[in-house]
Amino acid sequence: MNLENWFRPAVLKMKGYVPGEQPKDTTTVKLNTNENPYPPSPEVLKAVRDQADQRLRLYPEPTADTLRKRLSQVYRWPLEGILVGNGSDEILTLLFHAILGKGDMVQYPDITYSLYPVLARMREAREKEVKLDSRWNPDFKAFSTQARLTLWGYPNAPVGNGFPMADMKAFCKRAKGLVLIDEAYVDFAKDDCFPIARACPNTMILRTMSKSFSLAGVRLGYLFGHPSIIAELLKVKDSYNVNRMTQAVGLAALSPAGLADMRKNVRRIRLDRNSLIEELRNLGFTVPDSQSNFILAARRGHPPAESLYKNLKKRGVLVRYFPHPRLKDSLRITVGTPAQNHRFLTELRRLL
Ligand SMILES: Cc1ncc(COP(=O)(O)O)c(C=O)c1O
Repeated sequence: MNLENWFRPAVLKMKGYVPGEQPKDTTTVKLNTNENPYPPSPEVLKAVRDQADQRLRLYPEPTADTLRKRLSQVYRWPLEGILVGNGSDEILTLLFHAILGKGDMVQYPDITYSLYPVLARMREAREKEVKLDSRWNPDFKAFSTQARLTLWGYPNAPVGNGFPMADMKAFCKRAKGLVLIDEAYVDFAKDDCFPIARACPNTMILRTMSKSFSLAGVRLGYLFGHPSIIAELLKVKDSYNVNRMTQAVGLAALSPAGLADMRKNVRRIRLDRNSLIEELRNLGFTVPDSQSNFILAARRGHPPAESLYKNLKKRGVLVRYFPHPRLKDSLRITVGTPAQNHRFLTELRRLL
């Protein structure tokens, strides 16, 4: 096949994003993709059942205005400044398409969500990686104020730390381009970056229902930005990018009962996260404090992290191993239920 005649060279050259494994069997203790171990709110399940009727023949609201109205109330952000997407990944793709052309500068920390470089290569953008220091913080002076797009996570994956608020804000004020703060995990953190976005019109906040709301399977993300930025993005999104079921689920998740259920699960996960960190430190792992629903545990020596990952998998416990030079001694572990965390620790102790 003559793929060279059909595809852009940039696509032929690039590697695709590698998602965490999704095993078919239901017995695996799945601590590899930062899903929430608790079920979604009963309000959400009711909303799904209520939608399953003849209305499915109709298109959904193109810009999900009913959902945007509720998001606007909950997050106190103008409706015109909200974009809803088929997961936050879709919104990231949309942003890269709308903002970056060939050779435009995009920058992010050297360790962060590994989708950003994939999207950059797709756009043939000029990538700048800013190295994180030994405490996993960037030197904000090393970020260029000239990049068209700057991204980082708050908390940042896969360590789970939040960068210092004052440094982030000062950079956003200086930056000539747009800044995206990816808050996929922020409900597990102490604070969020809305104050920065309220003060800096070039700064956007990205959220998802995949983690704290236990809705990774539903695919719902949302972006908060200045209304004139959102207006440009709305021009390039698919007409019906968020389906009818998902819009109804989002509304139910943001109802008072839905929000209360989410917060209850978040409280449990935060407590269990802190116990898991303690246990792993007692086993000799270096584990930075986490503001997220996952932790990064590093340990030099034998057995190496990659073999721990493989052997845990053989024993029915999936965690994440990244073949990145700075992460080769580390395992990233999603916080599960107390029973799942216990099973992970038991198998890990056996392997050690
Ligand atoms: C930092 C970060 N941003 C975005 C996403 C994607 O989330 P979604 O499920 O909304 O596409 C993830 C998923 O793991 C993530 O880790």
